[in-house]
Amino acid sequence: MEFKMKKVLVVGAGTMGAGIAYLFARSFPEAQVFLVDIKPDQLQKARESQESWEKKDRQRGNLAEGQKLNLIYEGSFTNLPKDFDLLLEAVSEDLELKKKIFRTFDELSHDTSLITSNTSSLSLTLMAREVPPQKRGNVLGLHFFNPPLVMPLLEIVQTLLTSSEALERAKSIAVTLKKTPVVVKDSPGFITTRLGMVMLNEAVFALQEGIASAEEIDQAMKLGFNHPMGPLELADLIGLDVVFAITQTLYENFQDSKYRAAPLLRKLVEAGHLGRKTGRGFYTYPRST
Ligand SMILES: NC(=O)c1ccc[n+]([C@@H]2O[C@H](COP(=O)([O-])OP(=O)(O)OC[C@H]3O[C@@H](n4cnc5c(N)ncnc54)[C@H](O)[C@@H]3O)[C@@H](O)[C@H]2O)c1
Repeated sequence: MEFKMKKVLVVGAGTMGAGIAYLFARSFPEAQVFLVDIKPDQLQKARESQESWEKKDRQRGNLAEGQKLNLIYEGSFTNLPKDFDLLLEAVSEDLELKKKIFRTFDELSHDTSLITSNTSSLSLTLMAREVPPQKRGNVLGLHFFNPPLVMPLLEIVQTLLTSSEALERAKSIAVTLKKTPVVVKDSPGFITTRLGMVMLNEAVFALQEGIASAEEIDQAMKLGFNHPMGPLELADLIGLDVVFAITQTLYENFQDSKYRAAPLLRKLVEAGHLGRKTGRGFYTYPRST
């Protein structure tokens, strides 16, 4: 089923939103794609990324001859048109902020618009409650992975309120974006975040128990399980504050001690050692090896 998309809105031009907006502009040439962020420097970074992605895509023939990218950058919601066909939020992982964006999405959508979030762990059901009942069937999670232009998975999150029409449209969008959809039910951390975070957190427990060094833990998982990165270097890449916050969300939601954060993870966050972005986490950066 082909779903016509004339107007797409992506909110949040950070690590994820900039790439997702570009992906939509590349894959739906007939659509106008708007990218909104309240921080001018983030919009500027997104513009620079677009230039470099576009250059590579033209060299590789990923863009049709003469295809222009219809990507429009905005610093607020004030000048936006209405009636977007798809709206996606990729702002920081904060439920109250996401709920606020969903209330704005209600004003900018029509009755069949898909209203979506890129959250890694938060409740889509609670976000859906922010739009009127007749639109709640159109709410689902479109969970892209980092970097969104490269990673092949789209985890589609379905709530108890999501309609089968909306789900089918989301799957068809995934195919147009050249992603493989996996449909999961709305549950804290869905599949990917839940399983991934448990592994990362368990690696921190193993480290603090002195079972092996950080290098040995990472090496073991790369060579033994064919993981491209070890769990501790991956945690440093994601950001230890982010890993800690998601672990807390899982723990609070499931009320199960298996999700408790490793004390060493908490201590590193308290010390401001957040991984690559602060130059120190389980490793110091730049790494010598
Ligand atoms: N980083 C990852 O690896 C990753 C992977 C998958 C999913 N996610 C999810 O994607 C979402 C975004 O993550 P990110 O890493 O891109 O975050 P980020 O911090 O890089 O970007 C968030 C952006 O949202 C903007 N923003 C904040 N409040 C806003 C508002 N009111 N209006 C408009 N823009 C606003 C910020 O200025 C920032 O540019 C989160 O829900 C996260 O859990 C992240």
